[in-house]
Amino acid sequence: MKEPLILGIESSCDETAAAVIRGRSLLSDEIISSAQLQAKFGGVVPELASRAHTDAVDEVTSRALRSAGVKKEELDAVAVTYGAGLLGALLVGLSFAKGLAYALNIPLIGVNHIRGHLAAAYLEDAALEPPFVTLLASGGHTAILYAKTETQFEILGGTLDDAAGEAFDKIARVLGLPYPGGPHIEALAREGNPVIPMPRMLKGTGGYNFSYSGLKTYIINYVHTAEQRGEAFSRADVACSFQHAALDILIQKTVEAASEKKTDTVTAGGGVIANGYLREKLAEACRRAGLKLVIPVKRRCTDNAAMIAAEGLIQYRAGNFSPFTINAVPSIPLHMN
Ligand SMILES: Nc1ncnc2c1ncn2[C@@H]1O[C@H](COP(=O)(O)OP(=O)(O)OP(=O)(O)O)[C@@H](O)[C@H]1O
Ligand SMILES: [Mg+2]
Repeated sequence: MKEPLILGIESSCDETAAAVIRGRSLLSDEIISSAQLQAKFGGVVPELASRAHTDAVDEVTSRALRSAGVKKEELDAVAVTYGAGLLGALLVGLSFAKGLAYALNIPLIGVNHIRGHLAAAYLEDAALEPPFVTLLASGGHTAILYAKTETQFEILGGTLDDAAGEAFDKIARVLGLPYPGGPHIEALAREGNPVIPMPRMLKGTGGYNFSYSGLKTYIINYVHTAEQRGEAFSRADVACSFQHAALDILIQKTVEAASEKKTDTVTAGGGVIANGYLREKLAEACRRAGLKLVIPVKRRCTDNAAMIAAEGLIQYRAGNFSPFTINAVPSIPLHMN
């Protein structure tokens, strides 16, 4: 039987993206980003994001179809992020997808953006099957999950306050680095050493939960005190020490969760998984523990449409199609489709 051909569309934040998959094979993966425009304002301005999506959605979809070498009439379904995200931004992609699916008379599949981050790993390894433990670390979410099946997740633990990506963005601001902070902290950390003692977040306690607020406050105080006293300090050492503290705990708890759940596979998803230090240390820890690690390539850790198509495929196979009345939803619990 021929594998379904699915178009994925993503517009929840500042990336307008479209991708085509045939089964788990990725045929195209296109992004038009308004991040550079947003960087001028130190974060995402919702109105600017919506306008940029309106300008880009048609073009990015045409590019995705063209580079996949398929005609829209060949598509079997359109999968689109319906939440969580910025309402106006979501509406642009969702309305476009509805129009396309309606005109082509094919199913529309509304996708939970976070479930998309989790599904990205399926595109990396055609043999990947649940059960496995997943580390989710993005701009708005940080959790360790146990995937029982492709559609059923148990939340083992998560952040009690900020998400990991949010902590990177806030610390970047303190260090005078541009938005989004993650890649800039990573680059600066390469020039420093992890020599500043940091509070370790709920290490050895709190089950699989963790908290970034103590770490964040500690660094803000460290930097402000030094600045007020006119004392020299190494921004690179701060970035490096923060990066280690923020990520080591995620790696440690993920490997512990895999051992407790007696699974031999670990996956990961979300923007923070693009971090080179995390990728290297997580791979090392999994190797030591005899675990197979499947992580998306860097560009499919941050927002993209391939992951939305991948989750669309799971829902397609489960027969979960959306009515054309589906609306954009700014906030969705993780366990919802
Ligand atoms: N190399 C990196 N190191 C650390 N953090 C990174 C890196 N690259 C991106 N990030 C962080 O990842 C986040 C963006 O990830 P993502 O695009 O998944 O978040 P989001 O879509 O805004 O949030 P969510 O997916 O939770 O709704 C930002 O906070 C960014 O700083
Ligand atoms: Mg995201």
